[in-house]
Amino acid sequence: MTRRSRKLDHVRIALATGQSGRNGLDDVRFVHNPLPDTSLSHISLTTRIGDLDMRSPILINAMTGGAAETAEINEGLGRAARETGVAMAVGSQMAAIRDPSLAGSYAVARRANPDGLLFANLGSEATPEQGRRAVEMIEANALQIHLNVVQELVMPEGDRSFEGALGRIERIVRGVDVPVIVKEVGFGMTGDAAARLLSVGVSAIDCGGKGGTNFSRIENERRERPIAWFDEWGLSTAESLLECGAHVPAGRLIGSGGIRGGLEAAKAIALGAAAVGMAGALLRALRESGVEALADAIRETERELRLVMAAVGARTVDELRRAPVVIGGETAAWCAARGIEISKYARREARPTSE
Ligand code: FNR
Repeated sequence: MTRRSRKLDHVRIALATGQSGRNGLDDVRFVHNPLPDTSLSHISLTTRIGDLDMRSPILINAMTGGAAETAEINEGLGRAARETGVAMAVGSQMAAIRDPSLAGSYAVARRANPDGLLFANLGSEATPEQGRRAVEMIEANALQIHLNVVQELVMPEGDRSFEGALGRIERIVRGVDVPVIVKEVGFGMTGDAAARLLSVGVSAIDCGGKGGTNFSRIENERRERPIAWFDEWGLSTAESLLECGAHVPAGRLIGSGGIRGGLEAAKAIALGAAAVGMAGALLRALRESGVEALADAIRETERELRLVMAAVGARTVDELRRAPVVIGGETAAWCAARGIEISKYARREARPTSE
């Protein structure tokens, strides 16, 4: 199995398997505000992740590169990112680190969007030197390091040892001169893991929760004998965000995993995220309907986000992060078992009523 055909398999199977929608965000309800004192025209979507200023909390999350066919996807994603002004990450660049002739399939995203926020991407096996080369390849503003233990375990040709990842991430953080964001790919994040990552200098955590693109299902499709029970493995996006709540400071958490529109993006923000990553849903818009449709899908997500903000009395992303939400269902049961206090989310205010 070549790396090139694996990249193409991932795109094809991700589109075929789709998103389960069971990201836990259905368990989260906003407390409506009948006196929100907001105006749609005065709502700001600007936000910050670490030291990076973002025009919008929406991020096109890491997907692809490493084959001629994927250059077309990265170009489309890059053009839509430029049109809409959202940040974008390319997929894992290890293919081009091993074979520099593939660098163009990633760099095309920078050419399509010369002034935008663009994130490089590698796995935690990378060396600091590989990190620097990935950043240089696309003139990246930040470097994402992905954690994907379950994907590797299910992948027929995947890694089998995961020792020493935190130490390697610390060396990458010290060895590159851009912020490092650590992300899961859809199996979720715990508060403890997030705290340990921040303690070695990681700038932001992308929780990468379960409930969207499912890399166990994708790799199982590529196996002769599937390990089906890994398909249900992990912490949902809602659970992951709540796990991180007590450990990750404001402005350092990204919500992702099955985000398909503005309401889900708003709920992820209300659970603590300063930005929201979307991958599978945007890939589908691009592949099925083209760059303009993708740009429209991003704008529609932002429009919906503004509607939620108007209804809950939040004028900024930071205020939305403090909007009251009631958490029920399996997510509440998870939090009770894990000792995560959720009543404070229901009893707070987006902004003090005296304002
Ligand atoms: C991904 N994802 C991913 N992540 C990463 O860090 N490096 C990578 O190379 C890839 N490759 C990749 C390929 C394809 C086709 C998809 C759809 C996704 C994972 C992605 O960034 C994200 O974490 C998950 O897909 C969960 O988000 P969604 O898809 O549920 O919004």
